[in-house]
Amino acid sequence: MAQETRKDIGNIVEKLTQHGQQHITSFFEELSDPVQQEFVEQLQELDLPLIDKLITKYVRNNPQVKLPGEILPPPVYPIKPRPELEQKYQQAEQKGRQLISEGKVAAFVVAGGMGTRLNFDGPKGCFPATPIKAKSLFEVFAEIILAAKKRYAAKIPWYIMTSRANHAATIQAFEQNNYYSLNPESVIMFEQGMMPSFDPQGKILLSGKGQLALSPDGHGGSLRALYKSGAIADMQQRGVEQISYFQVDNPLNQIIDPLFIGLHALDQAQMSSKAVIKCEPLERVGNFTLINGKVTVIEYSDLPSEMATRKNADGSYVFELGSIAIHVIQRQFVEQLNRDGFSLPWHRAVKKVPYVDAAGNFVDPTEPNAVKLETFVFDALPLAEKSIILAIDRDEEFAPIKNAAGSDSPASSQRLQIDRAARWLEKARVKVPRQKDGSVDAVLEISPLFALDQQELIEKRQQIPPLKPGQSYYLG
Ligand code: UD1
Repeated sequence: MAQETRKDIGNIVEKLTQHGQQHITSFFEELSDPVQQEFVEQLQELDLPLIDKLITKYVRNNPQVKLPGEILPPPVYPIKPRPELEQKYQQAEQKGRQLISEGKVAAFVVAGGMGTRLNFDGPKGCFPATPIKAKSLFEVFAEIILAAKKRYAAKIPWYIMTSRANHAATIQAFEQNNYYSLNPESVIMFEQGMMPSFDPQGKILLSGKGQLALSPDGHGGSLRALYKSGAIADMQQRGVEQISYFQVDNPLNQIIDPLFIGLHALDQAQMSSKAVIKCEPLERVGNFTLINGKVTVIEYSDLPSEMATRKNADGSYVFELGSIAIHVIQRQFVEQLNRDGFSLPWHRAVKKVPYVDAAGNFVDPTEPNAVKLETFVFDALPLAEKSIILAIDRDEEFAPIKNAAGSDSPASSQRLQIDRAARWLEKARVKVPRQKDGSVDAVLEISPLFALDQQELIEKRQQIPPLKPGQSYYLG
């Protein structure tokens, strides 16, 4: 063992002992020199005082979310503007276009999650998503960004948050695909923070004798990682003012949306959200509410069903707005949060985590055995002085791929992608073959490079061939 490593591990064991975590170094002497060195680096990164607090609050205990007395529905910009809002929407769209053209808007995808539900071995962004060309999610987003760059004659840098588990594989995917025709200088990748998993008593778990069981610290970690990685400083240098935040799982993301960006900017909001009308009151999405005058998302699991099902006089649900995790965030807001030393609440999840037991045996549990902790980005909404919500049509912008089968699966997403393509084509007065039950009788894929939106498709109507039943049509 190098002398330096010996000294480091001596100090580390002393600290770990003070915090009751010295068991994680039990096998240190058995490790090879390079593994010892890497392990020492991992151990040095542990924030033990914070971990102590988290264990007491969230691992040994399961704190119930305390909801305040008064929870109201939040104000929302509707999908279609009411007459008194028409002018505002026009102004907003203009403002959004202007900001995009001036290079003041960046795209930002959170792609650090493990995607375990999908059983896909690799970064989720590499998952084949489209119905004909099987383009990956990353390729779809790259095409949207390329199309927007062309439309607005603008620079649009793309920031990608990865995690230790998929960073190298994400870089490799971009390199192998020639950065999907984007300029590599305008694609900036950085890693989010990691958090150890704990046994129910609060002992940190090992995934190997010289390896902590670590997992990404939640998409809320993006607000710190953006700052710590230098991405925010990079944005400042490039003149970026607004960050268009989206998740990696939704190929219908309208990443660069002038209306949303413009409403957020005109209202001088710091962090804003897109919302959908939930398809049923207990749908498993976050719920938008207003608490103490602040827009606040309450996860479906924390919203009492009495509230979720409460109705207005006109029969609509009082809390009808669901979060689809699309936000615009002011760059300065992220700077301010980090300068002021913000913190977001932690959320616990009990999961199956393979581990090395005290005797050094590898255990692959069949039942959940560990507590993982994550922060959620939407918990930053109440920290914003001003936050707006824009309702959108879910069929136009939401087709997530989360599960291997059933709802929110590759199959359901492709169906929604085809249905949207069909609607756009019909609006362009192209006859779409349909079955008797109304379902589309063709496989359709429209590249964002062919048409970024419905209007562009209408303009390209002459280039679209007649569609025959049962055939596949790719417009690229
Ligand atoms: C999320 C939202 C839910 C919303 C839904 C919309 C939470 C808790 N719930 O659910 O309110 O209705 O999306 O689709 O967020 N990620 C990271 N790092 C992490 C964890 C996640 O980058 O440490 C990224 C993932 O790569 C993915 C996104 O965050 O892009 C969503 O993560 P996931 O945990 O799958 O959230 P959902 O349960 O789908």
